[in-house]
Amino acid sequence: MAKIIDGKKIAAETRADIAERAKGFTESHGYAPGLAVIIVGEDPASQVYVRNKKKACEDVGFYSQVYEMAAETTMEQLLARIEELKNDPKIHGILVQLPLPKHLDEKAVIAAIPPEKDVDAFHLLNTGKIMLGEYSFLPCTPAGVMKMLEHEQISVSGKECVVVGRSNIVGKPMAMLLLHTNGTVTICHSRTKDLAEVTRRADILVVAIGKADFITGDMVKDGAVVIDVGMNRRADGKLTGDVDFASVEPKASAITPVPGGVGPMTITMLLENTLTAAVEAAQK
Ligand code: GUN
Repeated sequence: MAKIIDGKKIAAETRADIAERAKGFTESHGYAPGLAVIIVGEDPASQVYVRNKKKACEDVGFYSQVYEMAAETTMEQLLARIEELKNDPKIHGILVQLPLPKHLDEKAVIAAIPPEKDVDAFHLLNTGKIMLGEYSFLPCTPAGVMKMLEHEQISVSGKECVVVGRSNIVGKPMAMLLLHTNGTVTICHSRTKDLAEVTRRADILVVAIGKADFITGDMVKDGAVVIDVGMNRRADGKLTGDVDFASVEPKASAITPVPGGVGPMTITMLLENTLTAAVEAAQK
């Protein structure tokens, strides 16, 4: 029987701590940490994420502003909005919800966000800093995973860590954070030969491949810690992860559920980054 890592509970504890620090910040500076979220178009999943981000900000006492822009928004209009927010002293973090409509250049948009307000940590400068291990902001999902491991007192040092998925948002930075904490790290992807042979070596297995129930019990070593970053919607509308919970849970020593695992930690780390941005801006 695996320990179920309760992301909801860890997120609630962390958010209470952030709310406390935000209160102290607001009292001493006379303004609250502020986050601006831009959403372009009407993707329903993005709308839900953005609503959750706004609510999370309000719950910890941040100032937050959501900018809803039409699907036909031009690059010029979007860049002009970012420019305004760049110069807005109430705003310490700027987040442009991805994906953007196809006609917009995602890379150019991310590059336009000033690195000190880039609370997603997607800007080139911030991704470079992550490589060097010298950062103010960590990308929210990998940072949330590290926080969960820490909370559960799962040591990474010397462990075989296998990350399944090599996205810029999760897989690659996840591997870096595990490396910085002295894990022996392997990244697997769609071209990996004999994936099961590699995943079976993992003491800590992090799965972010975006395929429902992709990792099954036969691909996991007895006693492994299994972190499921997946968020897939089944035909019946239910959320499911990348890990087949029913066959993996009996083999694992600890496992994150979906929902209620990594998901709640991601927005929590966005709040942490926004507070960091406000604190660093106040020190300038
Ligand atoms: N879309 C899905 N996840 C994310 C995220 O973490 N940040 C942004 N900006 N967009 C997303």
